[in-house]
Amino acid sequence: MEPSMQENRVFNPPADFVKNAAIPGMEAYKQLCAEAERDFDGFWGRLARENIYWKKPFTQVLDESKAPFYKWFEDGTTNASYNCLDRNIEKGLGSKTAIIFEADDGAVTKVSYQEMHDRVCKMANALRKMGIQSGDRVIIYMAMTIEGIVAMQACARIGAIHSVVFGGFSAQALRDRIIDVGAVAVITADGQFRGGKSLPLKAICDEALSTGECGNVKHVIVSKRTGTEVSMTAGRDVWMQEIVANEATTCEPEWVSAEHPLFILYTSGSTGKPKGVQHSTGGYLLWAILTMKWTFDIKPEDVFWCTADIGWVTGHSYITYGPLAVGATEIVFEGVPTYPNAGRFWDMIQKHKATIFYTAPTAIRSLIKASSNDESVHPKSYDLSSLRLLGSVGEPINPEAWMWYYENVGGSRCPIADTFWQTETGGHMISPLPGATPMIPGSCTLPLPGIMAAIVDEAGHDVPNGNGGILVVKRPWPSMIRTIWNDPDRFVKSYFPEELGGNLYLAGDGAIRNKDTGYFTITGRIDDVLNVSGHRMGTMEIESCLVANPLVAEAAVVGRPDDMTGEAICVFVVLKGGRPTGDEAKKIATELRNWVGKEIGPIAKPKDVRFGDNLPKTRSGKIMRRLLRVIAKGEEVTQDTSTLENPAILDQLKEAL
Ligand code: WTA
Repeated sequence: MEPSMQENRVFNPPADFVKNAAIPGMEAYKQLCAEAERDFDGFWGRLARENIYWKKPFTQVLDESKAPFYKWFEDGTTNASYNCLDRNIEKGLGSKTAIIFEADDGAVTKVSYQEMHDRVCKMANALRKMGIQSGDRVIIYMAMTIEGIVAMQACARIGAIHSVVFGGFSAQALRDRIIDVGAVAVITADGQFRGGKSLPLKAICDEALSTGECGNVKHVIVSKRTGTEVSMTAGRDVWMQEIVANEATTCEPEWVSAEHPLFILYTSGSTGKPKGVQHSTGGYLLWAILTMKWTFDIKPEDVFWCTADIGWVTGHSYITYGPLAVGATEIVFEGVPTYPNAGRFWDMIQKHKATIFYTAPTAIRSLIKASSNDESVHPKSYDLSSLRLLGSVGEPINPEAWMWYYENVGGSRCPIADTFWQTETGGHMISPLPGATPMIPGSCTLPLPGIMAAIVDEAGHDVPNGNGGILVVKRPWPSMIRTIWNDPDRFVKSYFPEELGGNLYLAGDGAIRNKDTGYFTITGRIDDVLNVSGHRMGTMEIESCLVANPLVAEAAVVGRPDDMTGEAICVFVVLKGGRPTGDEAKKIATELRNWVGKEIGPIAKPKDVRFGDNLPKTRSGKIMRRLLRVIAKGEEVTQDTSTLENPAILDQLKEAL
């Protein structure tokens, strides 16, 4: 899937969209950019005062004295949950629907702002009663439910730092995160419903806690969802529904510094174990609010739907915090896009009259395929006329998928916000603004106002438009990562590397700007991070998992392009017992796939497994990954292999199973 550099179709924002847009037209966009250029601190200070409730106003906008450990609005105090709930009730939105929850089986529950407030307060009181304090870390291992959002907001209310672990991660992955973050409590559920199936959560949590390495965990709070039988450890485990039952529906928020960590979210890096990305309260919330207004042009009557999971950053910014902070009505969906059939998204848009729909290219591509020979699940079989804006996130959207989305889902009338951002950036960085930016399929277009994105070469020097390079951000922004939990050195090395001068934020992606328009197109990761169906996976993580299998002597993992998932995981394995062939090879490949699925989670399962007597190495013993990438693609190796110690290995590895 090559990002199209030749793409020249231009789609202008529809005129009636521009009329009412938050940023109406390119002039308005340029004015905001110019304001940020002219008076950086004044720009951010103004927006922070206008958009956030401050218990105590800040006196300094940005403190750069310990860069790259930037501090924003540090002496101001606020609370994220107060901003999302109480403030909206004070504005008269108490009876407005905050969440339209649609369960896997189609059951719909609506929760008003007042009800959400009451539920969050009850949970916050219960957490406080257990002794959980401001600054304590709480792991949340739940699926897409109202309770999941309540748990996050309740932590925020009392200043506890939540760390959500995606419900598809394994016991081992959960354990690693519990230990690294030093959690005092885990909030989970008995199980989760997905695609008509009931899957366990509490049992996996028990397994994670079973090794005795998670000694800090004093409480496990279990939400009843599936009714699956679970074992409850006396003195440690309690039911969420029971502990909140008698709590008050008010709870004084913990007023925290804007720099107080709101959450830590683990994500894959190019080396070693996942990194705990630490976000702030004030700056993070500010950007969640501004991007809801600027990118999503949110209006009081909108029905906003982000299909992400709360286990990923998109679910944090555009489910738990952003939409609630702006007083919007949002859809929260428990299930999967293909159950009971591949028309589920379209059916839900029609039923709930969604106006803004935000999803991932991988979902779009799979629904294109599913509807190509089944009209009944094609968007045209549904009334999608409520939609006015579409969004895309997580990976590059190929122009074909963009066009299909634009024409079939958006009826050629809805702008598409192709939002480039990362776990580390907290919110959108580069995206068309729907009432301003002319769109070009496959390009995320221009940086948001105040975001100083640029493309540089390996020495950190600007490259001219038209030349590819490394995507960086030249100035800090409020919602940027504050540090890697427990590892400030790794934070500096990963994101502000010396080679680039030490003051540029390194995104980890390659990009190119169009010669004429200056538009950005993301060309993919420049490190050892893969993007499979919009999920970030570190190749090293999968490699260490494979070599931990008793059969495996050595393993190398690379990505290859895949029409459906964007990238696919391809592994090259050397077994201790020699190279298997035929049925034996197939059997072991399946075993290894399941091993990775069990150790990390199903999303990390390799697509291709290839066996060799060895891996291609240089004379100094370095694995030549660039050759493996060529083989993984099924292409002929045309590169120079003269430094290769064992060229014959390549033929073995070419053999697909
Ligand atoms: C990729 C998800 C192209 C990119 C919010 C980035 C994208 C990584 C886009 C972050 C986009 C995300 N176009 N690539 N619109 N959005 N990416 O941390 O490689 O899960 O570095 O955050 O996804 O993934 P993460």
